Amino acid sequence: MRILLTAAFVAVSLISAAGAVADEPTVIKFSHVVAENTPKGLMAQRFQELVAEKTDAEIEVEVYPNSQLFGDDKVLEAMLLGDVQMAAPALSKFSRYTDVLALYDLPFLFEDLDAVDRFQQSEEGQAMLNAVADKGLIGLGYLHNGMKQLSASKPLRVPEDAEGLKFRIMSSDVLEAQFEVLNAAPLKKPFSEVFTLLQTKAIDGQENTWSNIYSKKFFEVQPYITESNHGLLDYMVVTSKEFWSRLTDEQRTEVKAALDEALAYGNQIARDKAIEDKEKIAESGRTEIIELTPEQRAQWVEAMRPVWRQFEDDIGAERIEAAYRSNDD
Ligand code: LMR
Repeated sequence: MRILLTAAFVAVSLISAAGAVADEPTVIKFSHVVAENTPKGLMAQRFQELVAEKTDAEIEVEVYPNSQLFGDDKVLEAMLLGDVQMAAPALSKFSRYTDVLALYDLPFLFEDLDAVDRFQQSEEGQAMLNAVADKGLIGLGYLHNGMKQLSASKPLRVPEDAEGLKFRIMSSDVLEAQFEVLNAAPLKKPFSEVFTLLQTKAIDGQENTWSNIYSKKFFEVQPYITESNHGLLDYMVVTSKEFWSRLTDEQRTEVKAALDEALAYGNQIARDKAIEDKEKIAESGRTEIIELTPEQRAQWVEAMRPVWRQFEDDIGAERIEAAYRSNDD
């Protein structure tokens, strides 16, 4: 009798355990490095809500902001190991995996986000989402942050003003070259370290968007920001092939639909924040915003443009040409 009861108990426990497993949602850990109140932070939260809605909570997105889980230098490795399922690193941070995405780092390539949109939506731009496919990663879409500005401990009006200064850059050889042509000293450092490096004066300056400069308080430790709009900070949302192939067709469709909707929302926020966060920085009175005259701007273009030639073979001359042509509307 006791044996029978024990067997029945074991059977019931196994059934309920199986039920529990079947009910467990599939988790997408989404790791990023910026603050929550940014285009990427808000896009990720919207994505989380939309995935829950569209999959009836069958898939759950967990968002980890502020480099809580992984910095951008580790996140792609972690994705390939299955420790995180989605992320949206800056396009500048794929340089260990592909040369072609470095296109987006070329200084003064795109005049504005409309030109970036035209290129990214073109056949060529869409094809670049596959640039890391051979490394086991799938590009699911682009997200804007915006145009980068230069901040520093001294006013930067002409390229010579940057000479000898130390600038933090993302891990991109194009960005390194961009500061080398100015005879400045670029240092590749994680985003999470930038504020402290600036505050302790270990570096003199950095380049970033208005929303990153605002949300991470760089403007409080940088007395000058030059509105240079010299480069682009955009993202590619990625997942691993391994994770993506574990979803059903229906789940992939719902997750992709949720992402497309969240990206459209994030892209609008990017445009709004470039204006609002600049205004908040200006109102803070903590830093001086320097506007360049057309002549000064032309000097920066001329100083940085040789970088294009340096990376033409790696990126592809035709690709550069196509991206540049997207400035003509
Ligand atoms: C940076 O490292 O400066 C940016 O890539 C951070 C981000 O994700 O916007």
